[in-house]
Amino acid sequence: LSANNESRGALVVFEGLDRSGKTSQCGRLVSYLEGLGHSVELWRFPDRTTSVGQLISAYLTNKSQLDDHTIHLLFSANRWEKRSMMETKLKAGTTLIVDRYSYSGVAFSTAKGLDFEWCKAPEIGLIAPDLVVYLDITPEKAAERGGYGGERYEQLEFQRKVSQHYKLRKDSSWKIVDACQPLDDVEKQVKEIVLQHIIACQKGKILSSLWS
Ligand code: TYD
Repeated sequence: LSANNESRGALVVFEGLDRSGKTSQCGRLVSYLEGLGHSVELWRFPDRTTSVGQLISAYLTNKSQLDDHTIHLLFSANRWEKRSMMETKLKAGTTLIVDRYSYSGVAFSTAKGLDFEWCKAPEIGLIAPDLVVYLDITPEKAAERGGYGGERYEQLEFQRKVSQHYKLRKDSSWKIVDACQPLDDVEKQVKEIVLQHIIACQKGKILSSLWS
């Protein structure tokens, strides 16, 4: 299964509510793929290490206030600033496992009441994921897991809205995994789905752009 130089990496995005288990699953998946000899990197959005990411982080931790449109565009800008690096890595054969992407951008902002078309527009032209793994959990179950860190969006009522808005946006690139199952069962399903997609990309599946 090791990648050869001519085949590209896969862009695999994880989406889901806060506390759906994305971060643990992404970590386990990356270790597994590395063990198989794949070239793979773990990315996440927001990427809080850039200057745009620091503005986002200050907003999320309630250290700054921003208009809803402004923060939406910052999240999008944070993806744009990584776009060319993303393309370079994928073309060089590295698979990227990405914790949140444009679907978070649209689901969270439309949950606040922003217009869907307006929210989608700045995402157009970013690289389209080959696969979106949606870790499906009810907002109530996610809240029971505890550990909401007190960031701006980590409230049950708001997560209920986000959940509805996510579901409106699923498309053919989505695979929905029941995230209420034990972690090991989720992990097993995730591995199977992702491996199939990595192989399809190695066989020459074309990179495309959002939103198609
Ligand atoms: P994240 O850093 O993944 O937080 P956590 O590790 O606590 O899940 O994301 C921070 C929050 O930002 C999360 O509530 C989702 C939200 N978000 C948006 O509103 N728009 C976006 O484009 C992205 C990527 C995240």
